[in-house]
Amino acid sequence: MRDQEGAPTSEATSSYRLPKTTTPTRYDIRLEPDLVNFTFSGEETIAISVNQPTTEIVLNALELEIDSASVERAGASIPGRPELDAANERVKIHFDRRLEAGDCILQIKFRGILNDKLHGFYRSQYQDSAGKTHTVATTQFEATDARRAFPCWDEPELKARFRVTLVVDENLAAISNAGQQSERRLGHGKKEVVFKDTIPMSTYLVAFIVGEFEATTPVDAGGAPLRVVYVPGKAPLTPFAAQIGAFSLKFFADYYGLPYPGDKLDLIAIPDFASGAMENLGAITFRETALLVDEKTASRAELERVADVVSHENAHMWFGDLVTMRWWNGIWLNEAFATFMEMLAVDKWKPHWKRWESFGVSRAAAMAVDGLRSTRSIEFTVHSPDEARAMFDVLTYEKGAAVLRMLEQYMGAEEFRKGIALYLRKHRFANAETTDLWDALEESSSQPIRKLMDSWIFQQGFPIVAVEPAGDGRALKISQRRFYYLPDAAAPAQTWHVPLMLRVKTDRGVSTHKILLTEKETTFQAQGKIEWALVNEGGHGFYRATYAPPLLDALSRNLSELKPIERFGLVSDTWAATVAGLRPLSDFLKMARLFTQETDINVWRALLGAFSYLDMIASDVDRAALARTVRDVAGPAFKRLGWEPRPGEDELTRQLRGNLAGALGTLGDDAAVQSQARELYDEWEKNPAKSDRDIAPALVNILAYSGDAARYDAFLAKFKSPHTPQEEQRYLFALANFRDLSLLRRTMAMTLDGQVRTQNAPYLMHSLLLNTQCRYEAWDFIRKNWDEMTKKYPDSALPRMCEGVISLLDREPEVKAFFETHRVRLGTKIIDQHLERLSVAVAFRRREGANLGRLLAQE
Ligand code: BES
Ligand code: ZN
Repeated sequence: MRDQEGAPTSEATSSYRLPKTTTPTRYDIRLEPDLVNFTFSGEETIAISVNQPTTEIVLNALELEIDSASVERAGASIPGRPELDAANERVKIHFDRRLEAGDCILQIKFRGILNDKLHGFYRSQYQDSAGKTHTVATTQFEATDARRAFPCWDEPELKARFRVTLVVDENLAAISNAGQQSERRLGHGKKEVVFKDTIPMSTYLVAFIVGEFEATTPVDAGGAPLRVVYVPGKAPLTPFAAQIGAFSLKFFADYYGLPYPGDKLDLIAIPDFASGAMENLGAITFRETALLVDEKTASRAELERVADVVSHENAHMWFGDLVTMRWWNGIWLNEAFATFMEMLAVDKWKPHWKRWESFGVSRAAAMAVDGLRSTRSIEFTVHSPDEARAMFDVLTYEKGAAVLRMLEQYMGAEEFRKGIALYLRKHRFANAETTDLWDALEESSSQPIRKLMDSWIFQQGFPIVAVEPAGDGRALKISQRRFYYLPDAAAPAQTWHVPLMLRVKTDRGVSTHKILLTEKETTFQAQGKIEWALVNEGGHGFYRATYAPPLLDALSRNLSELKPIERFGLVSDTWAATVAGLRPLSDFLKMARLFTQETDINVWRALLGAFSYLDMIASDVDRAALARTVRDVAGPAFKRLGWEPRPGEDELTRQLRGNLAGALGTLGDDAAVQSQARELYDEWEKNPAKSDRDIAPALVNILAYSGDAARYDAFLAKFKSPHTPQEEQRYLFALANFRDLSLLRRTMAMTLDGQVRTQNAPYLMHSLLLNTQCRYEAWDFIRKNWDEMTKKYPDSALPRMCEGVISLLDREPEVKAFFETHRVRLGTKIIDQHLERLSVAVAFRRREGANLGRLLAQE
């Protein structure tokens, strides 16, 4: 395996890697959490192999007290002396006698704290309807936090079986990865719950959850019983997750040609959760918004989120849990696949949701980062835990999934599936690297996959493919170069193996061509005179296209001959070229006006996304002209749809109505839409049965945008006593959408005063940074409270909060200087990317800002 510089990475040694002198085969772990004092005590018996004679055993441990450690061998006990090395997150156990090669048993007793940082073994709290506080103890180990709960070989390659025993209050539920083996009463109100052995798996997948949980009646998911687990009172919010859970688990068993590797599956909603969800084998944990949902009142987008996350985690039961990357440099083998498989399953479940088309938005989000100089390759060297954490980004997930989709479409779906099934079968219960995947795909398809894919996985950036007329109008010159937002004169030339799907209209008709562009340029010869040409047919390619003016005009005149995803691509590519300075803004604005008849939701998302970017760079003076343009472009489409859904209308159109109303009522500052929104909201408050679930989220945003203090108080109250997790989230984030500074300051204060969970506070701060009315104040607030924020918020959320700095155009030098001295525990690459995106916005404003008002005023 090679990284960007060509250095071997799989052998990389660093002070964070454990010596392989001793390795575990089975852990027997007994834990007793104290939910009152927020502590736990534990005891583990680990079957290990001594691979070379040694006088010390080194394993990971962090923020643990080790009370004793000893080795048992042939009936004799050898006491050990544990020495903690906090900097390297490990413990070294010294022995006075040499341990000879062979098998033995290691016993360790330890204690720790149930922390409130949402990692390791942590506590989560909630209040019941009577206002009483309840505590849950739960785990989050990925990437490297199992070591906070029990001493272990905390590296994905060191797979072992786990038998977990939990000692808990008799009235509490206890859950772990495998099904329960036995339960007995210990007296003093305590019970001991023993779980069965797991399959051999990595430490980051171990989980234990304790609290007053309830569970749905198990449903059969292809042989395994599946339940949804939740804190009391939320049973009505479980059926949707149970449905997609059972569907996707069966779908994957079929697709992979392998049965589900666990013996049961619990989907567990945790009140405080740092990310969206975590694929612990057999005990998947979720934040509540990603699992519990009311099918009747949730918007389609909110339902899709639950379907996405549940499918994603279920896909991991094979991709990640059964077959695991050897090391964190290969995390894309987990996350890109789970993301790809998530789309496949949801698309199969609800084809009318057109999940692969909305994936276009995610692909574009990945390109927004991958077009930076500070991007990285999908596979990337990792040494430290911080570097491992930084890998969970849009390049691993969205770029990774997009290049898989490109490969799948190029190979053919069935050929691809066969290769994947082979890969899983070959490496089950073990670990694999990227090269193993290419081996399996090449073996099953006899196609040269490695050459093609290495250019996407090990190389950073992506190409922009330029198309120009050639010859006598019967040929095209097609060339590739790297796409950059900020030109990089020093960069070496790069090429990719680009699977081009070309559709050409000539005077003889339309034809489609599959071309693998491996060189810098090629010439395509058509049969007749070319009328128009499109290079990314179907929109599956991870590249952007740019057309010479006559070809772009021809496409613009023939929009109706393009599929929605292709129109999306045209808008998205033209906009990216505009931000990169490859085209004038005037061209984009002209193009946008061609789309007033557009009916596809994703094309609208691309258009509205561009307008909200313009809102970010516009001066306060130009903002009114921008709002007028938004009304000009989106107004007619909304008028056609009206507020009232039509009988027989599809779900995406209903969602589009909400999106258009939302954009007009905020970006478009449309007074009529705002007052109609207020009327509708009042009506639906009185009669909730009448409300339209796809418009409701837009109403909340519009009312916040145009709202006063009374509205703020009403929304705050709604946030405090929500009916569903989605409603809570909706009203919370609306509090960042008001425009009055004194109200926004109240929201700012809420990010630290305990009113907002730390799982949400950093994201709320992110929204405040993007609000043009308070962005600079939000930034000052962050600078002032940085230390407190880094102490309180989950580590993984900080870089996401900081993404909001891309809007701080007037403070670029200061923002950059701040991060020079405040880099602690943040993925440095990720911060560099945010800062470069800020520079991109500043450069764009320098080019187009002065003209913006005049351009927008033009008809
Ligand atoms: N394995 C991740 C959870 C995770 C993320 C652990 C970051 C450690 C660090 C999980 O499978 C995941 O990808 N969750 C996503 C949701 C998913 C639908 C994209 C998340 O949490 O955002
Ligand atoms: Zn994942």
